[in-house]
Amino acid sequence: MSHIILVTGATGTVGSATVKALSGLGANVRAGVRSLIKGDSLKRLPGVDLVEMDFDRPESLAVAFTGVNAAFLITPFTQDQVQMAQQLIDAAKAAGVRHVVRLSASGAEAEPGIQLGRWHRQAEEYIKSSGIPYTLLRPGSFMQNFVHQYAHSIKQENAFYLPLGEGRVSYVDVRDIGEVAANILMNPEAHVNQVYTLTGPQALSGSEIAAIFSGVTGRTIRYVDVPEEAALNAMQQQGLPNWMTESLLELNAISKAGYSSGVTSDAPEVTGHPAHTFENFVQTYRDCF
Ligand SMILES: NC(=O)c1ccc[n+]([C@@H]2O[C@H](COP(=O)([O-])OP(=O)(O)OC[C@H]3O[C@@H](n4cnc5c(N)ncnc54)[C@H](OP(=O)(O)O)[C@@H]3O)[C@@H](O)[C@H]2O)c1
Repeated sequence: MSHIILVTGATGTVGSATVKALSGLGANVRAGVRSLIKGDSLKRLPGVDLVEMDFDRPESLAVAFTGVNAAFLITPFTQDQVQMAQQLIDAAKAAGVRHVVRLSASGAEAEPGIQLGRWHRQAEEYIKSSGIPYTLLRPGSFMQNFVHQYAHSIKQENAFYLPLGEGRVSYVDVRDIGEVAANILMNPEAHVNQVYTLTGPQALSGSEIAAIFSGVTGRTIRYVDVPEEAALNAMQQQGLPNWMTESLLELNAISKAGYSSGVTSDAPEVTGHPAHTFENFVQTYRDCF
């Protein structure tokens, strides 16, 4: 009988990296996608099938989990993410899934912590109480945020704007998260009921990141430290809802204060090789910048 691994949020940043890593390891992957059209590029990968999954339609979850042995549970950054996670865990349990890996966030254990961490902690506690063997992945901020959020200003203005002062952040490359998740899902024994905090190999300040961008692109890229109030105004102008601006400002404030600078060896210990450096990340995604 084949070992089927379900990845939810498979079209997202971490989900797609994980599906690619699993496919590379020869896994039978069921990629859970909200839209089959959006999942088309994943379907071309060896060993990958698509299944429609809409977290707002619980009946779609039961179908997606049928026959699944292990699952990577990824929920989006939304206000109802805890409820989404709970529905996924209930569906996994009802289907008899034997191991779940959950994408959480670094600092989820901090008391009282920030809103983002508390949401992840609630989902983590729900998994623990479900009785399903689990592994929790707690990554720090993603290097790929620079592609999705800051590439435009880097390309257009040779600058990126963040309210982080000189606070250092140990950004992690999502390719490492995908590889860690894939290794764990394929070989769960050593990882049952473990928690891994995933970071890059070094913590970097905005100025240090700007120097890396400048070195790789050959242009002078500036880091602009934005006052908190200006960051709030910019987010409001973009139309972000209040819950999101408040969560992001809280996250930025703790990063500015240095709480996002811890470096761990969890990712290299699971994958067996060093985590990607920020320089390697910029080289790989150079065309975006
Ligand atoms: N960004 C960071 O620096 C960072 C750091 C630590 C932890 N995290 C955590 O990472 C998680 C997000 O992961 P990500 O960045 O890979 O997410 P992402 O790129 O935003 O992708 C979200 C995925 O969820 C899917 N999705 C959204 N709403 C759905 C619904 N109602 N039903 C079914 N699928 C739905 C999306 O599908 P579509 O493609 O169809 O929209 C997409 O596949 C969050 O829990 C966040 O707290 C992020």
